[in-house]
Amino acid sequence: MKKGLVVCCVILMIGLLAACVAKMSPMAQGDAVISYLNKTDPYQQWQLWPGKGKLYPGKKPHGAFLTTYVSKGAYNAIKNKSGSIPEGAMIVKENYSPAKKLAAITVMYKKSGYSPDGGDWFWLKYAPDGKIMKEGKVGGCINCHASVKANDWLFTGSVM
Ligand code: HEC
Repeated sequence: MKKGLVVCCVILMIGLLAACVAKMSPMAQGDAVISYLNKTDPYQQWQLWPGKGKLYPGKKPHGAFLTTYVSKGAYNAIKNKSGSIPEGAMIVKENYSPAKKLAAITVMYKKSGYSPDGGDWFWLKYAPDGKIMKEGKVGGCINCHASVKANDWLFTGSVM
């Protein structure tokens, strides 16, 4: 009798733990990306989007001024007009207010098989203090960027 109760409790606890982990993992993913960008491979040392300087004028919703960094793989794909951005590459855009104050950072991170209906992009938006505002398969990002689906979901310049 008692044994049955213990087994029940253990099963319940494992279930709860699994549910917690499942809920936490997308968040852990955004945190991992932020940690990578700040510590492992500081994005401020990457190249800027080819042909763009720092603090160029932007449109809504992102910011009045933008600075866009691209990882090596993304840089080469844009330069060579490869048609798409390769697996593992990232685009990191700093969004500034009209007073040129950093307001948010938006990231597109290419992960093969992650989101076939959304260009296999992982979307991330975070505050300058590192607080995550949006992450994952974010409907808002996907819906708007879908208008440039043919250009691998990118607005800033042609990869074709
Ligand atoms: C209403 C449309 C719209 C929405 C919503 C939107 N974007 Fe964008 N995004 C743009 C436009 C337009 C640009 C080109 C830069 C500019 O002029 O602001 C852009 C540029 C970017 C870029 C630089 C690469 C590129 O596509 O040129 C990144 C990275 C990015 N957006 C990430 C995001 C993320 C992450 C979200 C969701 C949190 C998001 N965007 C939501 C319209 C949108």
